[in-house]
Amino acid sequence: MTTEISLEIISSLPKGRGWAAEHLYLYQGFWYDPVILEGVIWAQQNFRAIDTDIFLATSPKCGTTWLKDLVFAIANRKRYDSSSESHPLFTTSPHDCIPFLEDLVDHDDPIAYFQSLPSSPRLISTHISYTSLPNSILNADSGSRIVYVARNPKDALVSLWVFTKAIRSAIWSHLPPLPIEEVFDLFCEGVSFAGPFWDHVLGYWKASLETPNKVLFLKYEDMKMDTQCWVKRLADFMGHSFSLEEERQGAGQEIIKLCSFQNLTSLEVNKRAGNKEFFRRGEVGDSKNHLTPEMIKRLEEITEQKLATSGLKF
Ligand code: A3P
Repeated sequence: MTTEISLEIISSLPKGRGWAAEHLYLYQGFWYDPVILEGVIWAQQNFRAIDTDIFLATSPKCGTTWLKDLVFAIANRKRYDSSSESHPLFTTSPHDCIPFLEDLVDHDDPIAYFQSLPSSPRLISTHISYTSLPNSILNADSGSRIVYVARNPKDALVSLWVFTKAIRSAIWSHLPPLPIEEVFDLFCEGVSFAGPFWDHVLGYWKASLETPNKVLFLKYEDMKMDTQCWVKRLADFMGHSFSLEEERQGAGQEIIKLCSFQNLTSLEVNKRAGNKEFFRRGEVGDSKNHLTPEMIKRLEEITEQKLATSGLKF
């Protein structure tokens, strides 16, 4: 989906060190991979949200895959029995159930593609920063809603490092692998995919405070700690609340079980190359196994400083 206009825009942008591809480009204050950036620009120029749309927004490696699973299962629970192995999530990657707005690689006609998605609601995922979302999503009179999942920056950084290492060796194998020390410095400087990480989180955090009916802000750590509570909140926000009867029958628990890390990683579909990279440990705090105490201290200081007046804590 390359256009002359987007290539012209991209070639004029500041370049930074890429973690997977060779370079990231700074667009409207955020760093993107060039192929994805073409999609960002396409979306800004062409995408039209409809009132029933639900967007799943994340910084990469903060829980996108899990959120896609949960939202898909919640929205489609009348169509597909969450306790049955005939459920699509048993055989289909969540990334094939819910597409990325800015990933247009497989689409010759993205407008027709997005129009063809099942509606009520259309479920679309994105890593685009809040301020760069297409106007039709941001408009005050747009009824579309956004769910954002944030994650503590230490675990997000480690998860992103492992993921991009795998992508680099699969696609850009001529480029040398980046050691953790180097990606750590890049991350702290804000040069990471859809980074600066803190600016990405803060954009959605502020929007969730200003327009709580439009933006629901979740944290990966909270979801791990009390999945049931947050799945209920998610269903309420989506306008797909569990009925009393469903609660009595444990519909929420069935969805949690279906979307659990343990269940999903046991499925053949999620063991395939291209899908398995989205599942690693699925834990809180794994960063301590990869970052030195000095790195942890520096990241915590940056985080405290960046989030100081926001009321947001990790
Ligand atoms: P780790 O690398 O720390 O294990 P994203 O989906 O945004 O790419 O994020 C990937 C992270 O979410 C990975 O974290 C991955 O293991 C974790 N993850 C994927 N599916 C999950 C699930 N069902 N439950 C909890 N964590 C999950």
